[in-house]
Amino acid sequence: MKKTTIFSTTSFFAVSLLALGTIQAFASENERVPPVRDKLVQKECSACHMTFQPTFLPAKSWKKMMSELDNHFGEDASLDAETAKKIENYLVANAGRRIWRDGWGTPPQRITELRWFKSEHRGEVSPRAMKKAGTMANCKACHQRADQGDYDDD
Ligand code: HEC
Ligand code: HEC
Repeated sequence: MKKTTIFSTTSFFAVSLLALGTIQAFASENERVPPVRDKLVQKECSACHMTFQPTFLPAKSWKKMMSELDNHFGEDASLDAETAKKIENYLVANAGRRIWRDGWGTPPQRITELRWFKSEHRGEVSPRAMKKAGTMANCKACHQRADQGDYDDD
């Protein structure tokens, strides 16, 4: 019995370390991500927050989000069907591929709730910075060049 416990603790540890390694590798991969160059996406998705880079969410997340724009985090961000479709195509074509797997449930709608994101920011954000940003979705408050896809701060 005792042996089993020790064994499972060890393998739990190994798995955690592995997961942590993946998360860290993913975070540094995200120091620089391709900025949004599509004019339509820039125009329609920057009124209320910066235009988030599509690589931060998987394709299924963008599809879900674009089908529910009338209730977008409590706001009405509706667009005509043609515009929405064009934007969706861009987001899906540039979506992240390694952040999330089918079978993990509902596609995530928040970048800020992804595991790598939480892990990268845990213990890193001072209360002062948090107060200034207001919300973790306000990337630009802390990463000055966030809208250029640059999260590699000095
Ligand atoms: C009418 C205002 C408005 C428009 C237009 C808008 N959004 Fe948002 N969006 C919000 C609000 C409000 C939130 C929630 C912010 C928060 O909780 O801090 C949000 C959050 C998000 C998030 C999640 C951020 C996180 O927490 O990780 C994504 C992704 C997003 N929006 C994408 C889009 C895309 C893509 C478009 C263009 C199709 C768009 N938004 C247009 C208001 C808007
Ligand atoms: C309240 C401040 C704050 C907000 C808001 C914030 N971050 Fe960060 N972020 C940090 C700090 C501090 C770090 C860790 C130090 C560093 O590496 O720059 C970090 C690290 C990162 C990293 C890893 C960079 C690296 O060098 O490995 C990425 C990528 C990142 N943030 C993306 C985002 C995105 C995307 C958003 C918005 C959805 C966001 N952050 C919002 C403060 C913030």
